[in-house]
Amino acid sequence: MSDQLPHKAQWSSRLAFILAASGSAIGLGNIWKFPYLLGEHGGGAFVLVYLIFVLFVGLPIMMAETVIGRLGKQNPVNSMRSAAKKANASQNWQLVGWLGLAAGFLILSYYSVIAGWSMAYLFKMAGGFLANTNALTSQQTFEELRKSADVQIVWHTAFMISTMLIVSRELSTGIERVTGLMMPALFIMLATLDIYAFSSDGFSQGMQFLFEPDFSKLTGESLLIALGQAFFSLGLGMGAIMAYGAYLPDRISITRSTIAVAGADTLVALMAGIAIFPIVFANHLEPTMGPGLIFETLPIAFSKMPGGTLFGSIFFLLVFFAAITSAVALIEPTIAWLTERMDVSRAKASVWAGSACWLMGIGTVFSFSSEEPTRWSGRNFYELIDFVTSDLMLPIGGILIATFVGWILKNELIEEELELGNRTIIWHGLIRYVAPLSVAAILLSALSLI
Ligand code: PFF
Repeated sequence: MSDQLPHKAQWSSRLAFILAASGSAIGLGNIWKFPYLLGEHGGGAFVLVYLIFVLFVGLPIMMAETVIGRLGKQNPVNSMRSAAKKANASQNWQLVGWLGLAAGFLILSYYSVIAGWSMAYLFKMAGGFLANTNALTSQQTFEELRKSADVQIVWHTAFMISTMLIVSRELSTGIERVTGLMMPALFIMLATLDIYAFSSDGFSQGMQFLFEPDFSKLTGESLLIALGQAFFSLGLGMGAIMAYGAYLPDRISITRSTIAVAGADTLVALMAGIAIFPIVFANHLEPTMGPGLIFETLPIAFSKMPGGTLFGSIFFLLVFFAAITSAVALIEPTIAWLTERMDVSRAKASVWAGSACWLMGIGTVFSFSSEEPTRWSGRNFYELIDFVTSDLMLPIGGILIATFVGWILKNELIEEELELGNRTIIWHGLIRYVAPLSVAAILLSALSLI
């Protein structure tokens, strides 16, 4: 089979690509994970290092992945192979594509379970079942959900079927249409919650927590967590943005589009913090609550505030929108590979890939629901997958992509794609040294945790 099978599908405009790629980037990572991580790691100082990592490490790697995708115009495995061919490099570079496919698939298996929690909360909230929540009942509601395998499986199934329905359609009527509707809606909902937060008593305390850096709270570990979070949040190292780059028409600027995507992702993470922390403080709740922050803490605040059922429902609907537009990006590399290499329809590919992913997600459900889940070197199934993907596969993918584009791919090819002019020297410094070396630092520290 030829390596130069161009895609028939393409994004219809620059905005369509930006919305789809922002849909991939903006997800549970922004609205669930970023707020609780910064709650745990001291607020402002964590935000600052996070921003530095996005700018100097994340953005260059995002540009690099998009370049490979657009050069190859195929699924990440074939795009890597064709880029390696252009550079007269070893065909083994296609393993980077495989690594990406596998990581996206593994991440989606647990992502779907947690996104299922947000659907469960949307229904509880909209149905008024959380109207009289206090600290105790909120904890009980969350525990009940976590301990019930059946209920989690129902929502996990609903979420996975929704994902499959979107990716089973062609690009223009599937991913492009859904992200085109959901991303602007998400932004408007989040802005509404921010305006609400602005008028709440806890606003100044919330802002202080978010934007006043207290460097004494920053540890070596929090630096590494900030870097890992930048990677996860931008959706790097797993071929998702490579797959989306393959559908990018040649006339569209990669540099300007990826800056817009990284900017939108960062803005939404900050806006989520601005929406969440003022109501946490106004209600004298704990910002350091960890993963339960949006599921356990926020419903208490919503039940106390005027219009809480409405605002709470808007909040969980927006979490769902954020999650599903990321889920489609996590599975797209596998769908592209199945349709291009195995010659099956998108509908069939999504049934195969979605069902396999669903099955794997059951392991995550049981790691939350059972009293004594099976453990591998201390980690339950969910923790194991999260660790292997976020702390190992992702940084390895990132280092390899930066190395490949920085050192192996011909400069003329990259310059043609990125059109950086006299800023090329900055790009080189970042992609050759800053990005791979800082990511290598996460990896080494992760290895010491095994
Ligand atoms: N960026 C998403 C989030 O912040 O939740 C997660 C993600 C989506 C990671 C797509 C990787 C990816 F390919």
